[in-house]
Amino acid sequence: IKQENVRNFSIIAHIDHGKSTLADRILEKTKALTQREMKEQFLDAMDLERERGITIKLNAVQLRYSSPNKGEDYLFHLIDTPGHVDFTYEVSRSLAACEGVILVVDAAQGIEAQTLANLYLALDNDLEIIPVINKVDLPAADPDRVTKELEDLIGVTKDEVILASAKAGKGIEEILEAIVERIPSPIGEPEDPLKALIFDSLYDPYRGVIASIAVKEGSVKVGQKIRMMQTGKEFEVNEIGVFNPKPTPKNELTVGDVGYLTASIKNVGDSRVGDTITRVDNPAPVPLPGYKRLNPMVFCGLFPVDANNYNDLREALERLELNDSSLQYEAETSQALGFGFRCGFLGLLHMEIIQERIEREFNIQLITTAPSVIYEVVLADGETVTVDNPSLMPDPQSISEVREPFVNATVMVPNDYVGSVMEICQKKRGSFVDMQYLDDNRVNITYDIPLSEIVYDFFDQLKSQTKGYASFDYDLAGYRASNLVKMDIWLNGDTIDALSFIVHRDFAFDRGKAITSKLVELIPRQQFEVPVQAAIGNKIVARSTIKAMRKNVLAKCYGGDISRKRKLLEKQKEGKKRMKMVGSVEVPQEAFMAVLEMD
Ligand code: GTP
Repeated sequence: IKQENVRNFSIIAHIDHGKSTLADRILEKTKALTQREMKEQFLDAMDLERERGITIKLNAVQLRYSSPNKGEDYLFHLIDTPGHVDFTYEVSRSLAACEGVILVVDAAQGIEAQTLANLYLALDNDLEIIPVINKVDLPAADPDRVTKELEDLIGVTKDEVILASAKAGKGIEEILEAIVERIPSPIGEPEDPLKALIFDSLYDPYRGVIASIAVKEGSVKVGQKIRMMQTGKEFEVNEIGVFNPKPTPKNELTVGDVGYLTASIKNVGDSRVGDTITRVDNPAPVPLPGYKRLNPMVFCGLFPVDANNYNDLREALERLELNDSSLQYEAETSQALGFGFRCGFLGLLHMEIIQERIEREFNIQLITTAPSVIYEVVLADGETVTVDNPSLMPDPQSISEVREPFVNATVMVPNDYVGSVMEICQKKRGSFVDMQYLDDNRVNITYDIPLSEIVYDFFDQLKSQTKGYASFDYDLAGYRASNLVKMDIWLNGDTIDALSFIVHRDFAFDRGKAITSKLVELIPRQQFEVPVQAAIGNKIVARSTIKAMRKNVLAKCYGGDISRKRKLLEKQKEGKKRMKMVGSVEVPQEAFMAVLEMD
């Protein structure tokens, strides 16, 4: 198939607007899958993804489409993008592999924060946009209103908008024809030096890294020597091919092709998403634009519940890192929790996914500490250090300034909730930036907020205060000075390093009170009374007490009823699952996250 009949595109949408369902319909219509292979939502391969309904890893599928209108065959590459703010960069790179996107908007929900965020990424990449209003079968569907939103927002005309129901199979032919008609073919020269964009990178224990690539210029064959233009690393190509949707080896990939490449690469860090592959024998002078090294933004401590699992945890992290070049970790020792690791993540979702995979795939029970951001601390002698672990915050006397990362947060809500949203943002130390009406009923509110406040329960609060209507997106805005102090928690007179956190001085007193009473709730009674104190330096700002246990629960059973006794013991054991002895006090996992659930 000639280059002018190639179409590379992606589907973008707010979460749950029907991206995966539409992708399934397109696979069906192009007969990429036999009925038996047609598992629901084929593109979301990992179990965990399916359970959470989010797409983490990118995929590219090659499809053949015979256009009834044109009477010609076309080669489609459908590139899947992840849908969450944590993975914005990956979305942007996968879009850079395309010439167009299908923008899916739910006919009942209308445009949401991630619709816009994704749309901006598509516009940044100069892509053709095919607006599709999905779920028109829903009783609550209001395609006229959503069409109007699209007209106002991206200046499309009414007849460019396709009405569809991915579920009922309506509008799919129209979408396929629009891909042929409206999306341009790739423009690179097959004779030029190779430039292939890496837009995904996955580690396979047998073959090493499998890089998903889009060939923008030139061509590549098995056996050729290639160079990663950012890292400078060189490899020899073992295998290239396409997903249709099964991996299918090919001799050559040329301009417009989207597929995979393996070259005995041992670590995804050597084949970074966004990097450009060129050939050693005829290298391109400059790489493709837009490469960015990803830095983790959120940090937390991971400790095995059972200290004997420390080495297993190290191995788990090593294995996960092979697949995930944005995961960072280093050994950490906590007086309270023993040996573990300080880990860095792109965002909260990324953090939760890694934690869950460690527990599920490696069977290691974890105690995780509350997430923290990276602070920049200017010391009295002028030196600047970075601190990703609250317990390592330098002594206040030696600090001249603490800076924290801020984000530009946009929240989209129906009118009625503007007040609640502003209240939350205010409470989270946000400062108002802008407010724009999208239509009669919907508003886009922008605030400047410290990232650490977002890391806490911002999104949960937003959801609950707006009955789930708010959608939310953010990007990093830079570091600013804040009046921050470290708050320590003392249990039974001992400082528990894993419970320390950084707080704005104005909120310190309230937070101290809130966390001590929360901990009293969470930590079970012990044999003795345990004072819980919150302190800044040596100054106690709040205090509460865990009362001593009153009596032995088993004493009630009088020895007679053995089954009841067993039940009680089992219940106690269950309760103990995530306990950790901290000094003389037994502390449950939830206590280490308590700082997230205050207010
Ligand atoms: P993420 O992968 O979480 O980003 O979601 P998604 O955008 O891929 O949405 P998905 O395809 O998983 O669909 C979300 C929900 O909407 C599912 O329960 C689908 O069955 C449903 N859905 C998708 N398309 C339609 C449609 O045309 N009509 C109706 N009524 N429901 C639909």
